[in-house]
Amino acid sequence: MIRLDTRFFSAELKQSANEFQSEATAALAAVKRGDCSGGEFTGWYDWPRRHGFALAEEVKQYVANIGRFYDTVVIIGIGGSYLGCRAVVDALSHSYASSLSRGSKSVTKPQVVYAGHNLSEAGLIELLDFLSEREPIVNVISKSGTTTEPAVAFRVIRDHMEQRYGKAEAAKRIVATTDASKGALRRLASDAGYKTFVVPDDVGGRFSVLTAVGLVPLALAGFDIDGLLNGADQLFRSLEGEGLATHPVIEYATLRRAAFAAGKRVDILAYGEPRLATVVEWWKQLFGESEGKSGQGMFPAGLSYTTDLHSLGQYVQDGCRNLIQTFLNFSETLPVSLGGQKLERRLRVPHAAHNDDDLGYLEGRHVSDINQAAMIGTKVAHSDGGVPSLELNLRALSESSLGELFAFFETACAVSALLLGVNPFDQPGVEAYKKNLFALLGKPGFEELGGELRRRL
Ligand code: PA5
Repeated sequence: MIRLDTRFFSAELKQSANEFQSEATAALAAVKRGDCSGGEFTGWYDWPRRHGFALAEEVKQYVANIGRFYDTVVIIGIGGSYLGCRAVVDALSHSYASSLSRGSKSVTKPQVVYAGHNLSEAGLIELLDFLSEREPIVNVISKSGTTTEPAVAFRVIRDHMEQRYGKAEAAKRIVATTDASKGALRRLASDAGYKTFVVPDDVGGRFSVLTAVGLVPLALAGFDIDGLLNGADQLFRSLEGEGLATHPVIEYATLRRAAFAAGKRVDILAYGEPRLATVVEWWKQLFGESEGKSGQGMFPAGLSYTTDLHSLGQYVQDGCRNLIQTFLNFSETLPVSLGGQKLERRLRVPHAAHNDDDLGYLEGRHVSDINQAAMIGTKVAHSDGGVPSLELNLRALSESSLGELFAFFETACAVSALLLGVNPFDQPGVEAYKKNLFALLGKPGFEELGGELRRRL
């Protein structure tokens, strides 16, 4: 079970966080009932039990039936339609998987590549070069089915697939995840006869990692989707019953709320293991899009330690005192899937005959212990420097602990946004940019806005 260590958070803020406790437990109850602000988008809550486990069976069946004709999974999507999946892949894959020989025991899964999360022409050209030497399967994911970035990437990649394999064979290598009935992608997929999965109406993009949005590409890429759902289910079950005021979900939400009330404006999620970078990107989207509206919300920032201790660490220690920080800590960061735990794959600082680098005092110590010491030292230093610091502790890095973390942050984020008085589940700011993009590119229906923008420019 996830643990929140608050020892290095300011006593004053902990005191004022207590004042938000009953509001927070009421907000959680409203999320459970679906009658909070934006309540029509609370379908992610308790998702594994309500739909997830059944969906996982369907997804596994689909993956088993198509067979492993592919060595590469192309995931086309942006924001909530790709970050959760990528977070799992990056956290649990060998960092050098693409360069290691395919026979290596660390490389048993297909390679996962991404498109549609930017508008880089160079990136797409390079991806096509790469795909022409691989056997790809393509999962295009868009809830609305109209987002420009994935739509453009999909048109390019679909063209590549159809030219290379012919329309019928290409259709077998494409799976679409989108709305049940609306949007261009749904229409296109029905016309072309693609296999489809549904993004539920009541789950928004950034809360959708445990739905088909995450499960389909992760299952195609060989990850343990049952583990992911089990971890999340464990977290949701821990939120049953009464006496939740001291639950880590409520504590995290109320401490953040108290920090915001006290003028804190930047919330850092710090990690000592580089493979967690995309988990933190997912968290940034979740909190940024859920809270950042109507002038509210702390700016969510991610810092990679110890790398960033040699750049932004100076600011965190000594700059403007409007920061709080949480350290994301797994008990074991070599993923179980790569031999962590089971094989005791550890690395010690080796013996050197002469102590010419002055590292004799570290001989025989695990590198991860040195990293841990750096994290603890940093936490104390930053807290002494006036940055209230939390630590989130999880079990060994695996699908299951990531599932638990996703459910934890989703629930805490919904409660935290409700405590700020904003709807956690809309994203009017994202829509504003999407409309301007349509208008500037001349999409039919956006002529008036296009004219207005051109006049201003
Ligand atoms: O959280 C959200 O809803 C957004 O960030 C979306 O995930 C993102 O804009 C992509 O939208 P879509 O899946 O409709 O292409």
